[in-house]
Parts: sequence; structure tokens; C-alpha cells
Amino acid sequence: MSAGNSPIVWNELMEIIIQPTADAATDIAARIIARLLRGKPDAVLGLATGSTPLRLYRKLIAMDLDWSRVTTFNLDEYIGLPREHPQSYHSFMWENLFRHINIAADHIHIPDGNAADIPDFCACYEQQIANVGGIDLQVLGIGTDGHIGFNEPTSSLASRTRIKTLTGQTRLDNARFFGSERDVPHHVITMGIGTIMEARQNLLLAFGPNKARAIAEAVEGPITSINPASILQMHPVVKVCLDEPAASDLQRADYYRWVYAHKPDWQAY
Ligand code: PGA
Repeated sequence: MSAGNSPIVWNELMEIIIQPTADAATDIAARIIARLLRGKPDAVLGLATGSTPLRLYRKLIAMDLDWSRVTTFNLDEYIGLPREHPQSYHSFMWENLFRHINIAADHIHIPDGNAADIPDFCACYEQQIANVGGIDLQVLGIGTDGHIGFNEPTSSLASRTRIKTLTGQTRLDNARFFGSERDVPHHVITMGIGTIMEARQNLLLAFGPNKARAIAEAVEGPITSINPASILQMHPVVKVCLDEPAASDLQRADYYRWVYAHKPDWQAY
């Protein structure tokens, strides 16, 4: 067996990594990203928001990596929230990652939820991703309804960056950040599923029992737009980092654990 030509990406299709805790699963995700940034200092990262990646960002900050040549693209943003609003994803990213690292401000891309012409903005966002050669690694969370980015169930599996309307479930899930469901915006800009599928590597994190059903459907169910994350079964390089509760509905969890425990040394993270 050989690692091939690339020190960064291996073709393993979907790899399910189950760890006892969210902290242990996040340690692995952080090591995967650190290895990418050390091997490719001008890497292009796709980033996510929400509660899931918070621990990942804290670990990356503590690793003291060099971000000076890294470029980032965020998955999504609420439409109509002022950029400075504490729940905007702009605020989230600066508060939880960007202000702690040596990234160049002009290398950061977050959808502009206040763009005057949103379709035009979305087309430009796609072009900006293409202009830097595409995304090397995309960090993903998953919604309880299986969404990735804000691609809600029945999103086209070929969709590009665009405006989406949030489902009642997602607005309910996110009400905890806003104080009340009423204050959660209805509309968002999100990278499309087609956009996410073009990233060279996807790194999906999910923790807690409320993600178990969405994860089981995404990993072991049919590929269907009802669970948008299920399209990742078609992606050449996906790692799914789970804690035990998020893995609790998987039929083949023991197999995934065995595979991970017996990885050859050159594949270890
Ligand atoms: P969460 O959200 O990390 O806050 O659970 C995940 C998502 O909606 O993608």
C-alpha cells in the first residue's frame, strides 16, 4: 500500500471516525487541518459556524499555526442581519477564530447577507472560489434535518451558492442563539451542495444524540435530497468525526471502529 503522490489527501471515500467524546473527535479533525496547513501553507479552507466547530477553532488557535497565506470561504450567512450583530456569522468567525490567528483580512470570505444584489453576489462568490483554485478542505456541521451549509432538505444536489429559506426546524434549532425563534432570520445565503462537492476534501463533524438520526441517514441511508448530507457518499474524500452519541444510530458502527483502529501507520492522523 502506498500514500500516493499527495501528502495531503488520500482517496478513502467516506471514512467514519467514532471517538468516545466530542473533544477526542475534534482533536482528530484539528490534526487533519494542521497537517494540511503545514503541508500546504497557502491552502484554501472552507469554514463552518454553529456550536459544532467552536471546539475545533479553539484547538486550531492553540496549535499556533501559520495562517498568513491561508484563504478561507465560509459556508453561509443570514440575510439582513447587520454584519456587527452578535449572531451574524461574520461576528462569529471574527470572535471565535480570525481575531486569534495571523490570517490576512483580505484572504477571508464570508457571504454578505446585506449585498444589494444577492444573485450577483452569489455568482461572484463562486467565481472567487474558482479564482483561488477551489477549496482544499471544507469543514461541515450537519443540521438535525441533514442540512450541510444551509442546504435544507430537498435542496438540489447540484446547487450552487444562492439564497435559501430556512425550515421551521432549523429556525427552532438556532433559536437558542437568538433568544427566541421569532428573531431567527428566515433567509440565508449558502454555498450550494454542488459547491461543497467540489471541495477536494470534506470534514464533517457531528456531536450529541440529536445528530444521530441525521448522521445515520447521511452515512447509511440512500442518497437523497431529503438528507442533503447523504450526497457526501459520492465525494471522493470525506471524513466524518463523531462522538459516540452522534454515532449511536449507525448500524455498522463496530465495523467503522475496527477500520479506524487498524489503519496503516501512514494513514494515521
Ligand atoms: P450546530 O449546527 O453546529 O449549531 O449544531 C450545525 C448546522 O446547522 O450545520
